[in-house]
Amino acid sequence: MKSSKIHLHSSLQVGPVDPRVFGGFLEHMGRAVYQGVYDPDCAHADEEGFRTDVLDALKRLRMTAMRYPGGNFVSGYHWLDGVGPRENRPTVIDLAWNSIEPNHIGTDEFILLARRMDWTPMLSVNLGTGTPEEARNWVEYCNTATGTKYSDMRAENGNQDPFDVKLWCLGNEMDGPWQLGHVPAEQYAIRAQQAGHMMKLIDKSIEMVVCGTCDIDLPTYIEWDRVVLEHLGNHADYISLHRYVRNFENDTPNFLAVTNSIDQQIEAIDGLCRAVQTKQRSLKRAYLCFDEWNVWYKNYEMDGKRQFAPHLVEEVYNLEDALVVAGFLNSFLRHADSVKIANIAQIVNIIAPILTRGDDHLLQSIFYPFEMYTKRRDGVSLKIGVDGPTYTTQTYGVASYVDASAVLSSGADLHVFTTNRDTAESMEIRVDMADRTIASLVAAEILTGPDAKAANSYEEPERVKARAFDEVTIRNGQAAYELPPLSVAAMTFRTDG
Ligand code: AHR
Repeated sequence: MKSSKIHLHSSLQVGPVDPRVFGGFLEHMGRAVYQGVYDPDCAHADEEGFRTDVLDALKRLRMTAMRYPGGNFVSGYHWLDGVGPRENRPTVIDLAWNSIEPNHIGTDEFILLARRMDWTPMLSVNLGTGTPEEARNWVEYCNTATGTKYSDMRAENGNQDPFDVKLWCLGNEMDGPWQLGHVPAEQYAIRAQQAGHMMKLIDKSIEMVVCGTCDIDLPTYIEWDRVVLEHLGNHADYISLHRYVRNFENDTPNFLAVTNSIDQQIEAIDGLCRAVQTKQRSLKRAYLCFDEWNVWYKNYEMDGKRQFAPHLVEEVYNLEDALVVAGFLNSFLRHADSVKIANIAQIVNIIAPILTRGDDHLLQSIFYPFEMYTKRRDGVSLKIGVDGPTYTTQTYGVASYVDASAVLSSGADLHVFTTNRDTAESMEIRVDMADRTIASLVAAEILTGPDAKAANSYEEPERVKARAFDEVTIRNGQAAYELPPLSVAAMTFRTDG
C-alpha cells in the first residue's frame, strides 16, 4: 500500500480562514429561485413561500456570503422591477437565459431569506444594460436611513430599517462576449469606476468586488485583470475569479489534479494584485473573491425557451466531482491569505448540491464535502507539507496522490482534510504536528463510493454519502489512518497545545 505523511507546525500559518469562503450563489436562472428556494405551491412551503426542506438542507452547509441575483441574469436586471407589491411587478423576458421572469422574488424577499439563513448578502449590480446611477440608487434603497427617495421606498415596502448590505459586485463576467453589455476592459473599468464611486459616496462602509477574468481560456485572461485593477485602484477591494472545471476526456486522475491549476489561477491573480499595488505605490491590497466555482460540463441546457422556471443546467454530480469540490476547498484554505470570499455556483437545481423534483429533494455527492469542510472552517489555515508518492497527468503536471489542507482552531483542535486521488489503491496516511502531540480524535467523516462515476438519484439517494470515520489510530502523538481509493476525509483532532 502507498503511504504519505502530512507535516504541520502550529506557527507555520497561512492566515485566518475567512468564513465568507464558504459562500453560495443564488441566481434568477432556471429553477434556482422558483421551484428551488421559493415555491409557494410546494407541500414544504412556509407562509412566505420558501421551501423549508431545501432551506433545512442548506442550513447544514452553513453558507456565509450569498451572491444574488446573478450571474449573467444581472446584466439585464433592473432592481426596481423586483420591489413593491408583487401584483404590480412586471413580468419580463430575461435575455441571459431566454426565460420568463415574473419578479416574485426581489431585494426585500432575498434580504428576508438571507436573515433567516444567516447569510451575508452580496448583491451584484447591473453594469451590462444598467447605469451607474441605477447601481447607486440600489445602495440607497438598501443601506440608508429613511428620509430620501429610495430609502422611503424601502420603508413603504415594509422595511423601515436599512438592510446594511456590505458586499457589492460591480457587474458580472463583463469580459465574456456572451454577457449583455460586454465591453473591452477599459470601458468596463470606466463604468465600474463611475458606479463604484457613487455607491461609496452613498455608503462608504461598503466593500466592492470588481470583475476579473471569468474564464482562464479567454484570450484576455490576465490582461483584462491588469487593466481593471490599474483603472479601479482604490475601488477594488476584491477582484473576482470564476472557474468551472470539466472532465470531457473522462480521465479521472487528470481531473482530480485540476487543483494544481486552481492553485495556479489564485497565485497568478494574487501576484497581479500585488504587482499593480506595487506599481501604484498603494497601501491598499486587493484580495480575491472566487465568486463562481464548481464542476460543470455535463449539462449545457441554457436556453429557457421563454418559459418560467425552465430546467437549465441541472448537472448530476458523481464521486469524482465531489473530490474535485474538496480540491477547490483545499486550494482556498491553502490560500487563506489571499482568498477572502468564495461562492459555490450555485445552491439549488442550477449546478448545485441540492436538486428538487416536485415536493422531493435530493442531496448530490458534492453536498457532502462542503458540509464536511464548513463544519471545520473556524481557525487559521496552516501550511501543509505532503510527503508521498506523485503521479504525472495529461494536463496539470505532477500531482501528489494526496491533496490536503489543515485548519487550527483557536482552541486546541486541529482540522485535517485529505483526499486520496488514487483510483485503485488505498493510501496509508500519517499526520504529524511537529510542535504538538495529537492526543485524540474528536470526530471525522469520510466520503467515498463504489466508483468514480457513482451518483445519487431519487431511486438511490444514498449511494454517495458521508459517513463517520473512526478507523483512526493515535500513537506517539501522531494520527494514522488508511484512506480508500477515491475518498476524502475531514477529521478533527484534539492536540495538547
Ligand atoms: O452560474 C451560471 C452562470 O455561469 C452565471 O450566470 C455566469 O456568471 C456564469 O457564466
